[in-house]
Amino acid sequence: MARSFLPALLAVLTGLLSCAVLGRLPAHRRQASLRPNFYAETTICRTTPGLTRAQMELCFGQPDATRAALQGLAQSVKECQHQFHNHRWNCSSLANRTRNPHTSAIFQKGFRETAFAYAVSSAGVVISVARACSQGTLRNCGCDTHKYKMRGTRAQNSAWKWVGCSHNLRYGIKFSKMFLDARENGDDIHSEINLHNNNVGRMAVAANMQVKCKCHGLSGSCEMKTCWRAVPDFRVVGKSLKDKFRSAVLVDQSNLANRNPKTRRLNQKKRKQRTKLKQWTPKQKQKRGLRNDLLYYEKSPNFCEKDQALDVQGTSGRFCNRTHTDQGSCAALCCGRGYDLIMQRRTQTCNCRFHWCCTVECQNCTVEEWISICK
Ligand SMILES: *[C@@H]1O[C@H](CO)[C@@H](O)[C@H](O)[C@H]1NC(C)=O
Ligand SMILES: *[C@@H]1O[C@H](CO)[C@@H](O)[C@H](O)[C@H]1NC(C)=O
Ligand SMILES: *[C@@H]1O[C@H](CO)[C@@H](O)[C@H](O)[C@H]1NC(C)=O
Ligand SMILES: *[C@@H]1O[C@H](CO)[C@@H](O)[C@H](O)[C@H]1NC(C)=O
Repeated sequence: MARSFLPALLAVLTGLLSCAVLGRLPAHRRQASLRPNFYAETTICRTTPGLTRAQMELCFGQPDATRAALQGLAQSVKECQHQFHNHRWNCSSLANRTRNPHTSAIFQKGFRETAFAYAVSSAGVVISVARACSQGTLRNCGCDTHKYKMRGTRAQNSAWKWVGCSHNLRYGIKFSKMFLDARENGDDIHSEINLHNNNVGRMAVAANMQVKCKCHGLSGSCEMKTCWRAVPDFRVVGKSLKDKFRSAVLVDQSNLANRNPKTRRLNQKKRKQRTKLKQWTPKQKQKRGLRNDLLYYEKSPNFCEKDQALDVQGTSGRFCNRTHTDQGSCAALCCGRGYDLIMQRRTQTCNCRFHWCCTVECQNCTVEEWISICK
């Protein structure tokens, strides 16, 4: 009797105590704090570098979704590296930023590459959170249970139905907005462009949603199919955004050259310019569907030399391809500095023989090859 009474009393006391302490915290934190492993869960909020105040608050409210979002950011860096592997700027500076690519100085600029970086990371958050929702691991969202109309495909021999657990695109988009748009103050033209590019990334996910189906029935007869909507592979979105990167639109801001936020006169000027963009946008939108275009406002540097302030590594030491003629060629990558040929020895398996039964025996061969490295 006494043994079971004591823990109960303790629980009540700690409950009262935490109510008193938590009275001063914002509502979502208070709710979250009542979870037993709150401290462990929110470690991610305290250890991820470079979160803004708004992001931090969101993280304390939804540490589980934030974790998914951060995983999405990491995947987006991988995708960026894939899409740009033979460019002078190859996204490696984003990979270097432990768990928060947005701390790279590239995000403070307005290059074409910056536009891509905003879009791809925003897409990454959508994909990761939408998937996590449907896996049932997040508190604030679950499957998307909407029954979609199947377009194009008519159910012929087999009856199919929505199984009712689609990836939750809607929540993915919502969280991506809450988490990433919160980084922008939204009251100057640069920030507006960043928000626009975030949105382009999200829309690229939405535009490439897939329908996946699974067959059921006797001996694989597919008498019945269950279908759900799935977010696309990141590769599909990455490729789509890479195409947008090539056709990105430069926002003319020739009269925005001087922007010192401290003087009122310039602030007034800025406000005028902002209205200019707003007037300009709808017309342009009609003209060439600007809604889905990446926007940038600064000519890219050539990314040839190391520039610490820009978080640019330069191309010295990069592998290049002597037989290529485009991006990855030595001429393009090495910026005219030339390259060194280096003999590289690599061991690989060779002369493999199959012994009955069942082993494979191989030899180790050394292959020598010349590789070229930018000076
Ligand atoms: C990564 O960071 C380290 C130290 O911060 C730096 O020395 C290195 O050059 C960086 N590498 C890239 C590819 O940005
Ligand atoms: C990207 O570039 C950096 C330096 O410019 C280099 O260290 C790194 O190996 C490159 N990554 C890839 C995947 O080529
Ligand atoms: C160089 O480019 C050629 C032609 O595009 C390709 O076949 C070859 O595999 C490339 N070599 C390396 C080391 O990437
Ligand atoms: C080949 O190399 C691997 C390790 O690189 C080693 O474990 C293996 O024993 C080698 N095989 C032969 C046949 O030398």
